[in-house]
Amino acid sequence: MKLKSFLWGLTAICLLPASLRAEAGPEWLKKAVFYQIYPSSYMDSDGNGIGDLPGITSRLDYLQSLGITALWLNPIYVSGWQDGGYDVIDFYQVDPRFGTNTDLVVLADELHKRGMKLCLDLVAGHTSDKNEWFLQSKSGKDLRYSDYYIWTDEISEDEKELIKKRYEAPDPSASTIGRFVEANAPRAKYYEKNFYESQPALNYGYANPDPNHPWEQPVTAAGPQATRQELKDIMTFWFSKGVDGFRVDLASSLVKNDPDKKEVSKLWQEMRKWRDENFADRALIAEWFNPDQSLPAGFDIDFYRIGGRPGTPGASMNLFRLNANRNFGGATQPKAYFDRAGQGEVKAFVEAFNQTYEHTKNYGYLSLPTGNHDSERMSQEPRTTQDLKVAMSFLLTLPGTPFIYYGDEIGMKQQFGLPSKEGSNARSGCRTPMQWTGEETAGFSTATPDKLYLPVNTENGKITVEAEEKDPNSLLNFVKGLLKLRAGSEALGNDGSWVYVGDKEQPYPMVYRRSSDYEDYIIAINPSGKKVKTTIHAQGASTSAIAYATGKGSYKILPKGKGDVIGLDACSAIIVKLEGCQQCDEK
Ligand code: GLC
Repeated sequence: MKLKSFLWGLTAICLLPASLRAEAGPEWLKKAVFYQIYPSSYMDSDGNGIGDLPGITSRLDYLQSLGITALWLNPIYVSGWQDGGYDVIDFYQVDPRFGTNTDLVVLADELHKRGMKLCLDLVAGHTSDKNEWFLQSKSGKDLRYSDYYIWTDEISEDEKELIKKRYEAPDPSASTIGRFVEANAPRAKYYEKNFYESQPALNYGYANPDPNHPWEQPVTAAGPQATRQELKDIMTFWFSKGVDGFRVDLASSLVKNDPDKKEVSKLWQEMRKWRDENFADRALIAEWFNPDQSLPAGFDIDFYRIGGRPGTPGASMNLFRLNANRNFGGATQPKAYFDRAGQGEVKAFVEAFNQTYEHTKNYGYLSLPTGNHDSERMSQEPRTTQDLKVAMSFLLTLPGTPFIYYGDEIGMKQQFGLPSKEGSNARSGCRTPMQWTGEETAGFSTATPDKLYLPVNTENGKITVEAEEKDPNSLLNFVKGLLKLRAGSEALGNDGSWVYVGDKEQPYPMVYRRSSDYEDYIIAINPSGKKVKTTIHAQGASTSAIAYATGKGSYKILPKGKGDVIGLDACSAIIVKLEGCQQCDEK
């Protein structure tokens, strides 16, 4: 039965134009479960209140026991710390706050001893304004690094207005407004920035240079070609130290004025070829948030965007965001699907996800992360541990690569009302120190609480690794069990197929099937506060067994192929193994 789907898959791959067909990525990605660490907040080994690399190394047993196979660390390079490390001063040195390059090699070695991998963050789009390249570029026109950045003496009146607006805005996050910064440098009057003013954009050229803007160089010009080479040099340097891959910051925006992403896709196709020829087992992970573009462009993994500002992909769906209007420009968006109120929609998500999944599955992996350093944590009032277990049942049974943001496995909460830290603005609330124990510094540091990178709140020691390891009903143990089930099953793993089998018009429960050649699972998720029941198309199994669950649910196979009936209590999820599934492939 499964031979048929295999042959179909093969035909589909063969029909892809050769230029779009990616070679298989690193073998280890088939089983990879990533854990994202914001290094300033994970574990402080020297008592200065800021996390560091030896701190991370000291926690590898914990990560291994959780079922993690790979780490992604936010930037660890020497930085100006205007944007949480995303303003790099020296790409070749670990920032002293985290330790030394040797500490990084030790971390990689210790991970490798455990069969685990290490990925870093490649801040490809810009540098710090204190980076040597920028300092030189700023000082003259004909120096080695002059054209590493984008300089002009003339900008439009509109752009001048935006500069004014930026200066007048009281909120420091206004530093992101507009494209140009007035520098009055010997090189020229203005430079182009990417995010904050302190982050001058690296020059990868323009896809469609405007003849009236002489500063817009084509991607083939010397400066843009040199910055490409720098990316290869940086990656080579860290690969030689044992690093296994990179998550590429702002990967889609390197080439300017490239609306269909044609030129930036070519850039990454070149990088992919280079990677395949020289470092075939290293991973490339995109921060692109558009796998339909990034995976054909050569990335192994990209994040799937759910939610977002109006007009951005994914804006019409809202799986997790509870306070729709917070950070959302005052616009209304649909109610969250993962909410007891049960007023969410599932159709937009299922249709969009299905389309992207089908389009990209032969190129690489999608990922719906549990969170990240830029987003509010899922764990916040009024969500309970039970709600989080249901959400994890969904996130950790999807196809593609799981990414767990540090602390999400114990339900660490979003902290509201914290001051901005190193350019975080509202993002401080998801960057607080990891909560290991119930002590006043949560076992993160031996510093006094006032010296911590950001304050901790363990809720009297309840939300900590220590407490949750001891509690068989904790979120931590639930996640551990789920990852164990996933690790032991090809169907539930990264390459298992995914098909939606629920009724898209009836949002609760969400029901999908994961399959491999030998196994089939049905996953049914009900985040709502109401009991639900649904009958799905007969899946062709003779028997079924609940392999994992939270709350309460049932799966019943009706006689004569009349359908399979799923019942779920309020806020419950079940993972059902189908047995005797000869006909499953036909459905
Ligand atoms: C990415 C990072 C974010 C950073 C921005 C600018 O989106 O995830 O933290 O502020 O790039 O570098």
